[in-house]
Amino acid sequence: MIDVASYLKDNQQRFLDELLDLLRIPSVSADPKYAGDVKRMAEATAEHLRKAGADKVQVFPTEGHPIVYAEKIIDPKVPTVLVYGHYDVQPADPLELWESGPFEPVIKKTTAHPHGAIFARGACDDKGQFFMHVKAFEMMMQQQPLPCNIKFMIEGEEEVGSKNLATFCKEKKSMLACDVVLISDTGIIDNKTPSLTVGLRGLCYMEVEVQGPNRDLHSGVYGGAVANPINVLCDMISSLHDDKRRITVKGFYDDVEKISKKERTMMNAAPYNEKAYMKDLGVRELMGEKGFTTVERTGIRPTLDVNGIWGGYIGEGAKTVLPSAAFAKISMRLVPDQDPHKIEKLFQKHFESIAPKSVKVKVTAHHGGYAVVTPTDSVEYKAAERAMEKAFGKKPLPQRGGGSIPIVAMFDRVLKAKSILMGFGLDSDAIHSPNEHYGLFNFYKGIETIPYFYKYYAEMKKK
Ligand code: BES
Ligand code: MN
Ligand code: MN
Repeated sequence: MIDVASYLKDNQQRFLDELLDLLRIPSVSADPKYAGDVKRMAEATAEHLRKAGADKVQVFPTEGHPIVYAEKIIDPKVPTVLVYGHYDVQPADPLELWESGPFEPVIKKTTAHPHGAIFARGACDDKGQFFMHVKAFEMMMQQQPLPCNIKFMIEGEEEVGSKNLATFCKEKKSMLACDVVLISDTGIIDNKTPSLTVGLRGLCYMEVEVQGPNRDLHSGVYGGAVANPINVLCDMISSLHDDKRRITVKGFYDDVEKISKKERTMMNAAPYNEKAYMKDLGVRELMGEKGFTTVERTGIRPTLDVNGIWGGYIGEGAKTVLPSAAFAKISMRLVPDQDPHKIEKLFQKHFESIAPKSVKVKVTAHHGGYAVVTPTDSVEYKAAERAMEKAFGKKPLPQRGGGSIPIVAMFDRVLKAKSILMGFGLDSDAIHSPNEHYGLFNFYKGIETIPYFYKYYAEMKKK
């Protein structure tokens, strides 16, 4: 194996400069205005893989944004690792809350990152993280032979629900055949407490419309006599939780996986400082389902949140109006064994049933996905565990992540491959928020950890 530490040291500035260049490309998948940049980002990713020594590098067009594929197959007898990541990013807005341009990366120190962090949209989610794999691959190519065969699949639609990736995987099943999928798109507990993500929540994303009178009305002439759709929507939304902060949608908890006392005790043994957690967020109190701790609320319990709500007048000054309609986007995070399609129907039925006669409601579904749990007794997990222990000097703790990567459940189903969720971000890295950042320590630690994974995995599979 190559001397990772010295190769990293000799090349660390170049690795960083290359990442900064990628961060300058505004590859926002949700906004058609950036389609050209998304494509440019796909091509830049492909070029990096080509330069690092990958074969069959291809940018596959889809009905949406392209998928980048590359591989290095050295021997049918060694295991094959499929690296998955995404080169698209979330929209940067609200722009005015960024301290520097979202696509003009700068390096600044923070409390969590005393050695500096890269501030830019996508720094942590997921450009900084998938690029660690490209650089680790470049390092491993310096000393042949590679311990494993490697395939890369980096997509451009993760942040909009991976619409075209499922079809792609079904069509290219044999090209994508692998022993394990390796993903860095999650986080660790903190830089002194490594962890491996062993679960992701599912998702069911809905949009609702509450329609009142056939036109906007003068709120003095009609107010008090006609139902205001915004008031009604607020009432309906607030009734979706009871006083224990449990979700009131009928049947919502029916399939929720029961977690043993032992497992809950283990989860809660992981380091967690509630004061620091609240201070980071600027809140004086936390709120969530009664009877559960913060790790449980974000790891093993389903939730319901309004992501956006609008209607009526929101311009400058005051306009007295009783609006004719109100809208909201509502998402539910799901846990094993909730079925997003079933939850979608339960939500729709429930929401329609709680609407007063004074309004009409329309409920539509956006994307969704299943929750996943990954085994901790597999060779793959043990190899990842050893790799992290070697790089951090400490055994990583298994932890369930609160976020979702819906395509992971599909890898399980279609490719029949389990995923290893070996991410290096921190919760405080502000992904999807203004001032997203990724620690330099985390970037380099990731590049250092990845080659160990391949080495241990190949060794352990041989036995
Ligand atoms: N990388 C995140 C998911 C994530 C973040 C998992 C942190 C665990 C810890 C991913 O890019 C993401 O944002 N996923 C979306 C879902 C998607 C369908 C838009 C999410 O979780 O909201
Ligand atoms: Mn991501
Ligand atoms: Mn994301």
